[in-house]
Amino acid sequence: MAYRLRVRNAAQLVTICSGGQRFKVGKDQDEVEVIENGTIIVDHDGNIAAVGTEEELSKAEAFRSATYEADIDATGKVVLPGLVDGHTHPVWAGDRVHEFAMKLAGATYMDIHKAGGGIGFTVGHTRTATEEELLGSCLQRLNRMLRLGTTLVECKSGYGLETETEMKMLKVLHQARTRTPIEIVANYLGAHSVPKGMTADQATEDILNNQIPALKELAAKGEISPELIDVFLEKGVFDQAQTKYNSGLNLSTLPRDLRLGRILEAGKEAGLLLNFHGDEINYMNAGELGGELGALSISHLERVSDEGIAAMAKVPTFAVLLPTTAYILRLEHPPARKMIEAGVPVALGSDFNPNAHCMSMPMVMNMACVNMRMTMKEALVAATINAAGSLNKSATHGSLEVGKVGDLLIVNAPRWEHLIYQMVDPPLEHVVKKGRLVF
Ligand code: NIG
Ligand code: FE
Repeated sequence: MAYRLRVRNAAQLVTICSGGQRFKVGKDQDEVEVIENGTIIVDHDGNIAAVGTEEELSKAEAFRSATYEADIDATGKVVLPGLVDGHTHPVWAGDRVHEFAMKLAGATYMDIHKAGGGIGFTVGHTRTATEEELLGSCLQRLNRMLRLGTTLVECKSGYGLETETEMKMLKVLHQARTRTPIEIVANYLGAHSVPKGMTADQATEDILNNQIPALKELAAKGEISPELIDVFLEKGVFDQAQTKYNSGLNLSTLPRDLRLGRILEAGKEAGLLLNFHGDEINYMNAGELGGELGALSISHLERVSDEGIAAMAKVPTFAVLLPTTAYILRLEHPPARKMIEAGVPVALGSDFNPNAHCMSMPMVMNMACVNMRMTMKEALVAATINAAGSLNKSATHGSLEVGKVGDLLIVNAPRWEHLIYQMVDPPLEHVVKKGRLVF
């Protein structure tokens, strides 16, 4: 028998879990499974064929007599699953370094947004960029993420805010799938902001009547491949009639009355899973709304309420926490401890975008530990199995289990914690995607 890859005798082979779990919550999020002197084998389809101790696997006849296209001795090193980045915006033109200077001088995110900067600035540049230009810069960014250990990444549209550019962005992500080894889950974010010259109601009608029908048509033709739908639920960005939400309407019919509820429902009907931004700068009932809609995941949640946390734990809806945003905007950090203790599966994302220009999940995990008081185990779970779960990919990604894709990292350190401890530049020796060394 011939296999694509064997990595043998790792001081620590961090599998994360071994029971086919979709996510880890509560105290279980603070546990990762580790095999000492571990070996892992990947087959020719790029899937994991065996995981165990070196002793066990070297005794098995099937593996002893097999041949390996690549055979790596990982003595003294650590093997972990490839990292999963649960939230990024990698398709855009026009950087915002000038806005960073404005924020350092005291402007807030919303000051800049209201003056037409922020998302509005990026929309202007992204609308005029060609598909080729956007693909080129997006691929460079995705390859930098891969080099930093990310093997599966969620990528949003959202800098078009009209049909043509939103579809152009989704086409770029579809093209990128065949141009880089990193795996992409595309998220349609037509409701990232209300475009200049439109009211929120007009933008909603445009999404419902033009953008989503175009998305369905292009998806059926195989030109785009979105799996998720997102909205940026924020006061002054794309808000719902919040007073309505608080005024005692029947909860079970409520979301249909709201713009965002209508957009998310239309996405659901188009076969997309709900994964949206909420409760970032202002409390917007995002947790409650997500729980009500049975959302797969909600990102940010800096201002989530206790009721929102309880509603999310019930589904459960994944919380995708983004430590870089709170850092760069000097916001209060989301209540990660409260969410973990309440039984919400907590995931992490880099939130890479022109506002928070970070591609490094090791750095994100470090920030989650220091600023959100997560343990290193909780952070690793959040950047592997739980981030995969937040994208509906934990059946195939996020842990080293037989049958899952052979995405792994080889780290030149004696203990896995070095991946987080060494922050910006951890000693990543190899990044492996589907059993192939890609870095
Ligand atoms: O997740 N909050 C909404 N979207 C992005 C920011 C996008 C932008 O500023 O361009 C985020 O932080
Ligand atoms: Fe975002």
